[in-house]
Amino acid sequence: MDKKRVFSGIQPTGNVHLGNYLGAIRRWAAEQGDKTNYFCVVDLHSLTVPQDPATLRFETRSLAALLLACGIDPHVSTVFIQSHVTAHAEGCWLLNCVTPLGWLQRMTQFKDKSTRQESVLTGLLDYPVLMAGDIILYDADEVPVGEDQKQHVELARDIAQRFNALYETEFFVVPQPKIATVAARVMGLDDPTVKMSKSLADKRGHAIRLLDEPDEILYAFKRAVTDSGREIRFSNDPEKAGVNNLLGIYQAVTGQDSAAVEADFAAARGYGDLKVRVAEVVIELLRPIQARHGELMDDTAELDRILAHGAEQARAVSQPKVDEMKRIMGLVLPG
Ligand code: AMP
Ligand code: TRP
Repeated sequence: MDKKRVFSGIQPTGNVHLGNYLGAIRRWAAEQGDKTNYFCVVDLHSLTVPQDPATLRFETRSLAALLLACGIDPHVSTVFIQSHVTAHAEGCWLLNCVTPLGWLQRMTQFKDKSTRQESVLTGLLDYPVLMAGDIILYDADEVPVGEDQKQHVELARDIAQRFNALYETEFFVVPQPKIATVAARVMGLDDPTVKMSKSLADKRGHAIRLLDEPDEILYAFKRAVTDSGREIRFSNDPEKAGVNNLLGIYQAVTGQDSAAVEADFAAARGYGDLKVRVAEVVIELLRPIQARHGELMDDTAELDRILAHGAEQARAVSQPKVDEMKRIMGLVLPG
């Protein structure tokens, strides 16, 4: 049987945190063996809002190293940088010419981001078309993303279907969003009512970034907002959201069931003990990831070799797809 094809992307801006790891990256790594996978550092998407060039350059390689350090195996999955494969930008232009403007103006992320900025770049409006191309140029069946990206994957479906209808073909596979389960929703440590997020991760005590030092991790957990009680149990009570989040993190990291997690804390003396224990398991979880990331960043020759190989594999799939798209659309291919 043919393996399912998976495509997902992650932006090299902001701070990759424990929520990204537990909710997304760890799942990509765990399921990679059963699928044909393309994992892309989407640097072209980052350009849709202003960037400092040196920072973007650094973060792009650092994120690629982090994906590998988190267990994405370049022998099993294709890991690459979006701008290394020109088919993405080319495919975006061609898809622009079948996508009605109204579809893009309706996207909630665009409406949201554009009202928060003084000057809105054309690329920000076009962001979902670039993303649609990322996905459909690889004939991806599944797109594992967070809830916030579901609308964009649905747009990719619409664009694929529109192309197929316009040109009377079955050329594009219509992809499915695969949304992470609710259990993988990690909340902010400073405010357990909001999702841990990259945009808030610069605020000390909000997030655990995957590259944070042990001292910083301990600091953030010790300061985590809880409640005035002392009972350490899973609960849906909004008052207990802080403790619930800490137990959820502990459970996700240790892989135990909830009864075993609660049993671990039966003898704990209050929330102080809980916070330190959760910090310890997270520090141990991240230690080998950080070590591997450090090695890859020290020897960028290896990293560059892996990324060059990934780009080559990605090109082998997406460039013929773009060429065929051009032919279908009536462009003359070079002889
Ligand atoms: P983003 O941070 O929006 O670039 O998201 C990258 C991936 O991480 C997406 O697939 C999200 O589903 C996932 N993710 C982001 N924040 C969280 C969180 N707080 N808890 C669980 N998963 C998350
Ligand atoms: N827009 C996605 C995000 O911010 C990143 C992304 C770009 C992506 N291209 C993609 C995700 C293709 C899945 C598939 O999270």
